[in-house]
Amino acid sequence: MSKRSKRATNIDPFLNPEERKLVTFFNPLSPVAEGYRTLRTNVHFVSPDQPLHVLAITSAMTAEGKTTTAANLAITLAQEGHKTLLIDGDLRKPSMHRLFDLANTQGLTNVLVGQISYEEVIQALPVEHLHLLTAGPTPPNPSEMLMSRAMDNLVKQLRGAYTYIVFDTSPVTAVTDAQLIASLADGVLLVARVDFSRREPLVRALQLLESVQAHVVGTVLNAVPKKSALYRYGYGYGYGYGYGYGAGASKKGRKKAKSEEPAAPSYGPLSPQPSKPNFSSIEAVATQELPEHLSRNRRKR
Ligand SMILES: Nc1ncnc2c1ncn2[C@@H]1O[C@H](COP(=O)(O)OP(=O)(O)OP(=O)(O)O)[C@@H](O)[C@H]1O
Ligand SMILES: [Mg+2]
Repeated sequence: MSKRSKRATNIDPFLNPEERKLVTFFNPLSPVAEGYRTLRTNVHFVSPDQPLHVLAITSAMTAEGKTTTAANLAITLAQEGHKTLLIDGDLRKPSMHRLFDLANTQGLTNVLVGQISYEEVIQALPVEHLHLLTAGPTPPNPSEMLMSRAMDNLVKQLRGAYTYIVFDTSPVTAVTDAQLIASLADGVLLVARVDFSRREPLVRALQLLESVQAHVVGTVLNAVPKKSALYRYGYGYGYGYGYGYGAGASKKGRKKAKSEEPAAPSYGPLSPQPSKPNFSSIEAVATQELPEHLSRNRRKR
């Protein structure tokens, strides 16, 4: 991962596609990076009674932005000076190592079978305070590995070594892996992607997470178009917990949020694949309720 554009305020056209996803590292002053910092703030404040040290980032389906969100959230936590470990918990389709241009010859799976200690496989990232534990070789039995005593012990041990642990995971509705990681985490963030995610899988994902007593602390709205009302709302008004949409929000706050909410954003037709990547459009917003507008608006069409 090159550091050449660390100070750039606009997306550098020379960044490769993977680097463009790490907006908090390469473009820390951009509004998109600010969106991730807002998400970080929400993570700090959302659960005063049970601080969130171990976070699982998941989504209902594939390609909704789990990996991108996990990486950028971990970077912003480290940038704040917290010792942070990012773990690729997507053992079936590991991708975090590619994002950081690192090897994945050894990782979590090797640690879980006792071949090597976590200290030996953890890799330092070019962000101070941030380490990465890649997934390691794909095993034939990912779920068994994630529900093993070894996994439980590892997370306990890592809690003592890091202030924050951020897990990337597989999609919840596809396999049980994300549920297993979620049950070990203090909090779960469910990523939904604007113009792509659908309500039914999101509801199913929530049910699956609740069935293992996972503590779902919010949803992250990914890829909010820059022109959308949600983008302005998320960035400009700190849309999220305590700003009208959280369950604990005051009536006054809720009313204010409604009156400030511009007309519903318009959505294009459902596409089976994500639209062309445009990382200048990433926005991450934590809310406590399901982002209902995601598919409701589309269904009306
Ligand atoms: N904010 C965004 N803006 C535009 N494109 C995005 C955004 N977030 C994700 N993408 C696109 O979606 C793809 C999937 O993103 P990412 O890998 O973060 O999702 P994922 O949920 O981890 O996917 P998977 O389920 O395959 O692991 C990216 O390669 C990128 O092309
Ligand atoms: Mg992923």
